[in-house]
Amino acid sequence: MFAAARLETESKPALYAGLAEQARGLLAGERDRIANAANFAALIWHALPDINWCGFYFFDGTELVVGPFQGKPACVRIALGKGVCGTAAATRQTQVVDDVHAFAGHIACDSASRSEIVVPLVDGERLVGVWDVDSPKLERFDEEDRDGMERLCAIFMESLRG
Ligand code: SME
Repeated sequence: MFAAARLETESKPALYAGLAEQARGLLAGERDRIANAANFAALIWHALPDINWCGFYFFDGTELVVGPFQGKPACVRIALGKGVCGTAAATRQTQVVDDVHAFAGHIACDSASRSEIVVPLVDGERLVGVWDVDSPKLERFDEEDRDGMERLCAIFMESLRG
């Protein structure tokens, strides 16, 4: 049985290193995208403090469509270039937003969200989707979160290649 480690009291780099190890174990031997996305979202939801949504949007060839997530029901479709997710997808660069109210075009799925991080998921040149985490706290995500989230997303992407 899987048991999420209690990571809340560690430093962020230690927290993300522990999470990376857990993610590798959790996704090992499985290539199904929905299965791995669901377990990945559940792992991070239970390990990270001060978040109110985390999950995937996958690119369907035209726009982003919501995938496995934890938190309140979310907007289903996001056009490339729209909102924080669409910006991460269009630019293929991680977006760290200290205050979502100050981000032009932010899409409010949960009115409790105050800050957000979105990591693009790419396989070579191909856009796969984005990984999105929201927080009810302002300035919740910093460079250590960016680094940690990008490493976790690399583990997720690697799992799909088997
Ligand atoms: N806030 C996001 C939309 C997705 S939800 O936060 C789950 C955005 O602006 O792209």
